[in-house]
Amino acid sequence: MTNETFPEDFLWGGAVAAHQIEGGWNADGKGLSIADVMTAGGNGIPRKITDGVLAGAYYPNHEAIDFYHRYQEDIQLFKELGLKVFRTSINWTRIFPKGDESEPNEAGLQFYDDLFDELLKNDIQPVVTLSHFEIPYHLYEVYDGFRNKKLIDFFVNYAKTVITRYQHKVKYWMTFNEINNQADGQHELHTWTNSALKIQATEDKEAIVFQAAINELIASAKVVKLAHEINPDLMIGCMMAYVPVYPYSCNPADLMASVKVMDRRFFYSDIHARGIIPSYAINYWAQRGIEIDVSPEERQALAEGCVDYIGFSYYMSGAVTTLAEVEGQPIVEFPEAKMVANPYVEASDWGWQIDPVGLRYTLNLVYERYGLPLFIVENGFGAYDEVTPDGHIHDPYRSEYLRAHIQQMKLAVVADGVKLLGYTPWGIIDLVSFGSGEMEKRYGMIHVDKDNQGHGTLKRRKKDSFAWYQRVIATNGREL
Ligand code: BG6
Repeated sequence: MTNETFPEDFLWGGAVAAHQIEGGWNADGKGLSIADVMTAGGNGIPRKITDGVLAGAYYPNHEAIDFYHRYQEDIQLFKELGLKVFRTSINWTRIFPKGDESEPNEAGLQFYDDLFDELLKNDIQPVVTLSHFEIPYHLYEVYDGFRNKKLIDFFVNYAKTVITRYQHKVKYWMTFNEINNQADGQHELHTWTNSALKIQATEDKEAIVFQAAINELIASAKVVKLAHEINPDLMIGCMMAYVPVYPYSCNPADLMASVKVMDRRFFYSDIHARGIIPSYAINYWAQRGIEIDVSPEERQALAEGCVDYIGFSYYMSGAVTTLAEVEGQPIVEFPEAKMVANPYVEASDWGWQIDPVGLRYTLNLVYERYGLPLFIVENGFGAYDEVTPDGHIHDPYRSEYLRAHIQQMKLAVVADGVKLLGYTPWGIIDLVSFGSGEMEKRYGMIHVDKDNQGHGTLKRRKKDSFAWYQRVIATNGREL
C-alpha cells in the first residue's frame, strides 16, 4: 500500500446510543421507553420484554453507565482520545415522554443542549440518530407500535422539534438505527426495538413487519425533506446493519440464495436511497398475498425524501447454502437455504464471524449500488476484559480487530475510490449490550467498572486500546 491515507477532513469518532449509556431512565420528566422494559439476558440467553416495569426484575438500561450525570467527565476522555465526532442518539422519551404529546418536555431538550454544547466546546461534533431503539412505550401500549400509521406523524413531530432546536449544533443525522434488523420478523427483540411491535403467533409476522417498515420508511423520508427545509446544510442519512451474506459454495443455487437473502436487507436502503419500492419486493408481496397499505401521497413522500448518505454498522459477514450435507440454521424467507458457519473466518465469543475483508466488500458493494457517501457508524469487538490487580486492561484483541477493519476500510477509500465520510467504532466506552443486556460484553476503549448484575463503582479506566486509537486518529490512519 502507498503512503496515501484518509482525506484530511475524515471524521474519526466513537459511537453509542442513548439507552445504552445514559441511565436516568425516569429523570427530569423522561417517559418509559421500549428499552426500559428489557431485562438482562446473557451470552446465549435472550432478554425478556416485560409488560411495563416489574418489581424485582433487573433492567440494565435504567442506570446503564450513568452518562446522564457523568457526561462531562466522559467527554474529557473523548477529547483526550482525539475524537472529531461522537455518535449518540436522542432518547425520544426525554423529549416526548409518551410520544403523542403536542408540546415537548423542556428539561429533556435542555439536557441535549447541554450535552451538545459540552461536546462542541471540546471540538467534538455530535452525530445524532433520531430513533435508536428508544420508542416511547406508550406508543406500543396505545397504538401497537409502527404498524399504526399515526406513528409516522408522532415521529415527524419529534424529529421536527429536535432538528429545529439543534440545527446549528448537529449537521449529521440518521433516522432509524439498523432499520433492517427486523427483516423477516424472526427475532422478537428486533421487531420490538425497531418498531415497538409484539406479534401474536396467529398473525402473519412477515406482513406486519413489512407494513411497519414501510411506515418507518415513509416517516424517515418525510423527515429528510423537512430537515432540508429547516436547514439545507444538514446531512440526513439512514442507518443500516450490513451483514453481507456470501454463497457458501460456488454452486449457482447458493449464489442465488445469497442474492435473495441480501434483497431482504437491501429492501430498506433501496427505498431510503432511491425513493421507490423495489420490484423484487412488490413481486414477493403479490406471490405471498401480502397487501401493503401505501397511498399515492406516501409513495410521493418516499420519492421526495431520499437520504444524503448511507450510515451503516458492520460487525460480521454470513454465509448461506442450499447443500443438504452442510449443517446450519434455516433462512425463513428462502426455505431451502440456511445460514452456516464460514470456514474461512473466526468467530468472537458470542459467535459473531470476524471478517475484515467483508467490510471492504460491503463498502464497494454499497457505494456501487447507490453512489452516495457512506459513513461507518458502528464497528467493534465485543469481548470479555480482565482488569489486572494494578488496574490495567490489556486488550490487544480489540485493537487487532479494529486495525484489521481499518486496513480494509483504507483500501476501500484509497484503492477503490469509495467516498467515506467517517468511522465511529461502536461502544467507544463500555455500555449495556443491546442484544444480551450484559455489561461484560465490552466494546469500549474506556472501561467502566460495572458487571452483569449491575454491581460496580462506575469508575472509568483507559484500556490499552485507548492509546492505540489515539495514535490512529492523530496520524489520520497512517499508523495502525
Ligand atoms: C447494533 C446496535 O446492533 O450492534 C447497537 O446498533 C448494539 O445498539 C451493537 O449494541 C452491538 O450489539 P450487541 O448486542 O453486542 O450490543
